[in-house]
Amino acid sequence: MRYYMPTQILFGPGTINQLRVVVEARLRSSRPLLVTDRGIEEAGILEKARTLLAGVPVFDEVEPNPKHTTIDRGGEMARGLQPDLIIGLGGGSVIDAAKAIALLAKNAGSIEEYEGREKYQAAPLPVLAIPTTCGTGSEVTWVSVITHTGRKFKMSIKGPEMFPAVALVDPDLLVTLPVHLVASTGMDAITHAVEAYTSKLATCLTDLFAREALRLLFRYLPRAHADIRSDGEAREGMMLGSLLAGLAFGNSDVGAVHCLAEALGSLYDTPHGLANAVFLPWVMEFNLEVSRPRYAEIARLIGIEAESEEERAGELIERIRGLSRALNIPPLSCLGVEAEALPLLSRKSWENNSNPSNPRPASAEDYLDILRRALAA
Ligand SMILES: [Fe+2]
Repeated sequence: MRYYMPTQILFGPGTINQLRVVVEARLRSSRPLLVTDRGIEEAGILEKARTLLAGVPVFDEVEPNPKHTTIDRGGEMARGLQPDLIIGLGGGSVIDAAKAIALLAKNAGSIEEYEGREKYQAAPLPVLAIPTTCGTGSEVTWVSVITHTGRKFKMSIKGPEMFPAVALVDPDLLVTLPVHLVASTGMDAITHAVEAYTSKLATCLTDLFAREALRLLFRYLPRAHADIRSDGEAREGMMLGSLLAGLAFGNSDVGAVHCLAEALGSLYDTPHGLANAVFLPWVMEFNLEVSRPRYAEIARLIGIEAESEEERAGELIERIRGLSRALNIPPLSCLGVEAEALPLLSRKSWENNSNPSNPRPASAEDYLDILRRALAA
């Protein structure tokens, strides 16, 4: 068994106030570059970071499902400024972009040349990851997912040097998270934990993280969705649940839900968390014949008390469907997907790097079947 995660984690409400100490004393940085997006600016979080790090240069062009062309522009900026640290302040897209820009700061060319594992010659710059959503987990993983716009494909760029050096995780940064992002990023975190717990690569260590993540996320997501602004306990539960889910799937991988979500995101630009939420119950039904005992364990963990293993597993899937409805997650048919696109989506899902980690082997035909069921609902 192997478990590797070299990131130093600082967790707690108000941790953002340690930003300057972390940058200057812990990471010994005197020339950081901050990567973020416009939403973080509008939420006032960037202003807070700028107050703590006077004069820090900012690259704020990251979009959801970050494009390789955007990363290349960020890389150019980094090469010009010669920073000694990249700070990623935002959701999963921003943290993934920060990792990729840290790579380009030290390596020539376009990010598309680094698709795959350890394709870089020089180690990327250190990254300080500061998540502002309750779903990414990217603050404790080695992978950056970047959309190649020409190929309409989500590239995975990864390597042991791409783990953030420090994850500064402050639940109070969730105060201004819009309610639809609480829903979609929270469902992303639940998907990470479910897929980690049922992955072919799961170990007893990733199980520990996944189980505690699931306990927290199912307890606190409805509360966070109802009132994240004034419910500090729910914010902390969600941020910790998301972090723990990252610690699980970072070493066990994800599965077919992410394969479908990445295919959808690459073709339709569907936000990652939303796409996962849409596919999760359908993939769980597909995996049921292999993952039933594990689903039943999750069910028990979150208080489902049905008699048999079969009933508990079935009730878990229904609980997830009910949660999605309560969070106003739309069905696949409301996301602009046409039936003609399903064969291409199924092929892209099958080609995804995480497909072999799914507990039940899934062919392109299987993906097509899952997509048809989801679209008909
Ligand atoms: Fe995800």
